[in-house]
Amino acid sequence: MAQTDIIAPQGTAADWTIAQDWASYTTQDHAMWDRLFARQTQMLPGRAVPEFLEGLDILRMTKPGIPDFAELSDRLMQRTGWQVIAVPGLVPDKVFFDHLANRRFVAGRFIRQPDQMDYLQEPDVFHDVFGHVPLLANPVFADYMQAYGQGGLRADALGSIEQLARLYWYTVEFGLIRQDDGLKLYGAGIVSSHGESEFALDDPSPNRLGFDLQRLMRTRYRIDDYQQSYFVIDSFEQLLRMTAETDFAPLYAQLEGLPDIETDTILPTDRVFHRGTQDHATRKKEEDAL
Ligand SMILES: [Fe+2]
Repeated sequence: MAQTDIIAPQGTAADWTIAQDWASYTTQDHAMWDRLFARQTQMLPGRAVPEFLEGLDILRMTKPGIPDFAELSDRLMQRTGWQVIAVPGLVPDKVFFDHLANRRFVAGRFIRQPDQMDYLQEPDVFHDVFGHVPLLANPVFADYMQAYGQGGLRADALGSIEQLARLYWYTVEFGLIRQDDGLKLYGAGIVSSHGESEFALDDPSPNRLGFDLQRLMRTRYRIDDYQQSYFVIDSFEQLLRMTAETDFAPLYAQLEGLPDIETDTILPTDRVFHRGTQDHATRKKEEDAL
């Protein structure tokens, strides 16, 4: 994940990487990973896209304990030329994009505490590695992530990072995909969350809308709760093609004149897979008002 205007903590290299220091994880750290891993791998078969589950096998992530990034990178490198490197937390946008453009995925090394099983403000190693890394073993998705990083470097130069960040949010983090046997999860923010793995697919609350690049880049998103709208792609090939072939500069110029779209809005032009009741968001708003 990226964030603007932050300063590198001490001991961080110029590219913001740090040692994972795998040997320093405690028994409790590994046990926390195993608990989260067991809970998600029970939940995900039939829900997550098969490519995600295959990635867990290919990378041998079924081995107990927090993965050693060096081992993981060896397997990933053979498969798609990607590596996993440790960072202290959020990194500046430009650093983040530069790593992606060079097929390096940055991951937090710390793991959440037992009281954070269900909610975490900053992404930990479980979100970053369990959520993101399996799909990097898929050649098409791996290329998409690199294309995104390259697009990010261009967006940074054009001052349009916010629009591009929405693309990441609604695909890499919270994306759904349509397959022959129905909608499936692939976004890392969903597959690493027990509650959202169910909500995103089965709850009547959120909208599930067809992916449309321009529309999506105008859509705000929620960082404090489950999404009110999810966007459904047809395939990873579609996502890659769209990102690699679109000339983003004129698109950003066009977007500048258009208003943002709220998180729950359905447009007449949307391809609607499911029209959400928004009961969850309404309930949450009422609770917050008390
Ligand atoms: Fe993430």
